[in-house]
Amino acid sequence: MTVRFSVLTVSDRSARGEREDLAGPALVKQVETAGHRIVHIAIVADEAADISRVLTIWCDSGETDVILTTGGTGFAPRDVTPEATAAVIQRSAPGIAEAARAFSLQLTPHAMLSRNAAGIRGRTLIINLPGSPKASREILDYLLPVLSHAVELLKDDPRAEQGHGKIGV
Ligand code: MTE
Repeated sequence: MTVRFSVLTVSDRSARGEREDLAGPALVKQVETAGHRIVHIAIVADEAADISRVLTIWCDSGETDVILTTGGTGFAPRDVTPEATAAVIQRSAPGIAEAARAFSLQLTPHAMLSRNAAGIRGRTLIINLPGSPKASREILDYLLPVLSHAVELLKDDPRAEQGHGKIGV
């Protein structure tokens, strides 16, 4: 099934126009190459209120199935994406966050420095990815085959029944 994605880049410097956003456009390309759709894209500063506001508007619009955030998951004082995500989700999806970290730990021990979260607001799944284009691509490659089934379940789609046990349908 085609999933409707939105991509939110969280970066002070990109929001100020001081650094080109490479991670957001790379995720957009990856999603489209996999045959899915992009609905919204935006860049916000590392401000919890701004991040939460965009996430809420996008989720509540009903226009997007999955929101990918990139950036702000580390240990720097201004890395607040997981907290801004926790503030708006209604149900957490710890398996996705754990899977992203477990997979990444096989590639680099630095993965333990990502505090990435995942959760559900209404019928939208929010997934935090790290800020580096390489890291976010690696993780999305790993998660993508499962996301169609995740969205079928979120939407109570009858196809979800057949999706159990299958990957990437
Ligand atoms: N995950 C993968 N798959 N590959 C990586 O190179 N880098 C890590 C980690 N996760 C990395 C990764 C590093 S160096 C950091 S600091 C954290 O993600 C947090 O990144 P962020 O603050 O840009 O979100």
